[in-house]
Amino acid sequence: MPTQPIYLDNNASTRLDPAVLEAMLPFLTEQYGNSSSTSHVFGQIAEKAVSDARENVARLLNCRTQEIVFTSGATESNNLAILGAMRASPVGRKLIIAAAEHKAVIDPAERLSAEGYNVCVLPVDKHGCVSAEQVATELDETTILVSIMHGNNEVGSINPISEIAALCRVHNVLFHTDATQTVGKIPLDLSRLEVDMLSLSAHKMYGPKGIGALFIRKRFPKTSLEPLVFGGGHERKIRSGTLPVHQIVGLGAACSICSSNIVSEAKQISALRELLKQKIAERVPNIQFNGHSDNRLPGSLHVSIPGANAEAVMMKLRNQLAMSSGSACTMSSPEPSHVLKAIGLEASCLTTSLRFGIGRFNTESEVCTAADILSPAVEACRQLSGYLEKLKNPVQ
Ligand SMILES: Cc1ncc(COP(=O)(O)O)c(C=O)c1O
Repeated sequence: MPTQPIYLDNNASTRLDPAVLEAMLPFLTEQYGNSSSTSHVFGQIAEKAVSDARENVARLLNCRTQEIVFTSGATESNNLAILGAMRASPVGRKLIIAAAEHKAVIDPAERLSAEGYNVCVLPVDKHGCVSAEQVATELDETTILVSIMHGNNEVGSINPISEIAALCRVHNVLFHTDATQTVGKIPLDLSRLEVDMLSLSAHKMYGPKGIGALFIRKRFPKTSLEPLVFGGGHERKIRSGTLPVHQIVGLGAACSICSSNIVSEAKQISALRELLKQKIAERVPNIQFNGHSDNRLPGSLHVSIPGANAEAVMMKLRNQLAMSSGSACTMSSPEPSHVLKAIGLEASCLTTSLRFGIGRFNTESEVCTAADILSPAVEACRQLSGYLEKLKNPVQ
């Protein structure tokens, strides 16, 4: 049997933790009750499982269980937060986002703009970040919502959401953060962080695909959201639809594991990231690492390799190493990444950048092997593109 390539694409998705699978299995087999059918034992067991999972999610975030709404993932959570909050207020009102947001924020914002809402897109700095001062200059009395991501899925930088959230609170403006890449990776305490809404997704934290949640702070005045899906009034009438109990159990189990090891795991994964960075820097000349050097996701490394087309490098290594040239959610677009353009990366780097995502199941030896096999692949691609020749004979 051919061995699987080394998986370093954990920003795109993570392997299901075996303990998560074990927790889910009964709800894919003998426990098939509907969690709303509490008149019998099948339904009661399902309802209890959903309630336990909700507690696990709330515990990881240090929030209340009534503040968690299950969704199909972070795309839906972002849509619900942004479309829901804006559509609950009159057309013409203002939404503020940043240029390096995930498409699951940018696309609903564009949709709102087409509907007549005022959408402000803040430029980001070279790391992909915005500051609270930038947000402050755009806040006005028409602003309903600010949505700034926590950790960037491409370059890995972390935004100062604590300051931005505090600023929004002072101005009585709602603040949403897309924390898909940070929940379960770095500790978050929603009893201190003044965010009103937060999106998360199970498959980025060793849980199953197709399940996520939106945290909606219970506060006064109430955060009112226009639902996207109408039906049986599930999830406090915010998100109708029979609850996918097995998925929710998986999300809960994933959160529970993260709660117990988040600090040590972040440390261990950061060390692997630094090792990968060091090994790549030793083996591959003339490269540039992108994103903030310290304030970043533990497992995220982003590198531009001038002269080596990212697609060509990935093709060469496709049987040995799984990495990516950008966000998995925009892979269908031939356009260079909007995030890399937003951070002002040189044109020559837009198609020569690689993203590595290290996760729970990676080892030191995998990271070293990755750097070892990357080097000759880059060299071959640089040879083909004429980059090495150009280096030897630079045009005067
Ligand atoms: C920052 C960010 N937001 C949103 C999403 C979408 O998440 P989901 O796959 O759960 O819809 C992703 C997934 O790549 C992401 O990285």
